[in-house]
Amino acid sequence: MRSSHFNIIRDAAHQERDRHAASCAWLGALPSAVELVWLPRSLALEPQTLDAALPSLPRKLQAALRRSTPPHHHYLGDRVAEHMAVKVALGDDGEAYTLTHSPMGQPRLMRRPNVASHHGPICISFTHDADAHITALTRDPAVVGIGVDVVHLPRLSRGGHAGAHLMRFARRFMSDIEWAAFQPGAPTDDLALRRVVAARFSLMEAASKAIGTGLRLGMGFGRPASVLPQTINVMQIVPSVEYLLDGKAFERQKALRASRIEGFWAEDGEYLVSIALLYRGVARVI
Ligand SMILES: CC(C)(COP(=O)(O)OP(=O)(O)OC[C@H]1O[C@@H](n2cnc3c(N)ncnc32)[C@H](O)[C@@H]1OP(=O)(O)O)[C@@H](O)C(=O)NCCC(=O)NCCS
Repeated sequence: MRSSHFNIIRDAAHQERDRHAASCAWLGALPSAVELVWLPRSLALEPQTLDAALPSLPRKLQAALRRSTPPHHHYLGDRVAEHMAVKVALGDDGEAYTLTHSPMGQPRLMRRPNVASHHGPICISFTHDADAHITALTRDPAVVGIGVDVVHLPRLSRGGHAGAHLMRFARRFMSDIEWAAFQPGAPTDDLALRRVVAARFSLMEAASKAIGTGLRLGMGFGRPASVLPQTINVMQIVPSVEYLLDGKAFERQKALRASRIEGFWAEDGEYLVSIALLYRGVARVI
C-alpha cells in the first residue's frame, strides 16, 4: 500500500476514534491492552483509498472488486475495511498474518509460516453499523476470545422502537432471569430506555463473538451452531457489566477452557460500542 495513501486511512481512523471517544471511553479501563480501529465505512470504497489498498488485498478480493462496478456492494467495502484496519493496527507486522474465518464465521488472524513477526497469536473482532466499521484486537495471551459490537442508536428509534416497543424487543431477546434483573428498574424515559436496551443487546452480541458462535436471532440470522440470545444474560450494566452464560453459551465457554468473560460499553448519543473479553482458565460451574 503506498504510504501516502495509507497515511490517509490511518489518519481517518484516528480522527474517527477521537470524534467518537465517548463511545470508546472504556478503552483506558480494560484489563488487557486492546487496539481499536474506527474507520468511516464509506472510506473503504473511495477510489483513492481503494486504489492504494488494492495491491495488498487477497487475490480473490481483488478479483471481486475488479469485477464489480462502482458503487460497489457494501459487502465488498466491509471486506476491504477489515484488511485496512488490520494494516492500521499491526503496521508492517500485518504482513505476517492472514485473515481467515472459522466455520461459524469468527474472524481469525493466522500467522503465516516462515514470516518473521514480533507477536504471537492475536484475537480480533469486527463490527459495522451505519457509517462505522470498527475493529478490536488484542495480543494478550490470557485472552481466548474478543468481541466488539456497535449500535447506531437512531436505528433503534426508527420503526416504532419507542417505549412499549423497546420493552417488547427486550423481552424477546432476554431470558426470564435477565428480564427479572432488567424490567423492574427499566427507565420510563424513551431515550434512557433506548440506551440501556441497546447496551444489553450489544453486550450480548459482543459476548457471542467472543465465544465465537454468534447468535441465532431467528428469521434466518445466525448459523445452526450459533447460540440463542437467551443463553447470554447481561445481569447488570452499571456500575460494571456482569455476564451470566447459560446452556450452549456456557458449554462453549467451558470447551474453550475460559474462566471468565468481562464486558464494557459506552455511547456518545450516536453510536454505542461494547466489547467482551474472554479469559483463559477453568470455568466455574454455577
Ligand atoms: C455475529 C453476529 C452477532 C453478528 O452481528 P451483527 O449485528 O449482524 O453484525 P456486526 O456488524 O456487529 O458483526 C458482524 C461481524 O461479526 C463477525 N462474526 C460473524 N460470525 C461470528 C462468530 N461466529 N464469532 C465471532 N464473530 C463473528 C464477522 O466479522 C462479521 O463481519 P462481516 O459481517 O463483515 O463478515 C451474528 O450472530 C448475527 O448474525 N446476529 C444477527 C444480527 C441481527 O439479527 N441483527 C438484526 C437485529 S437488530
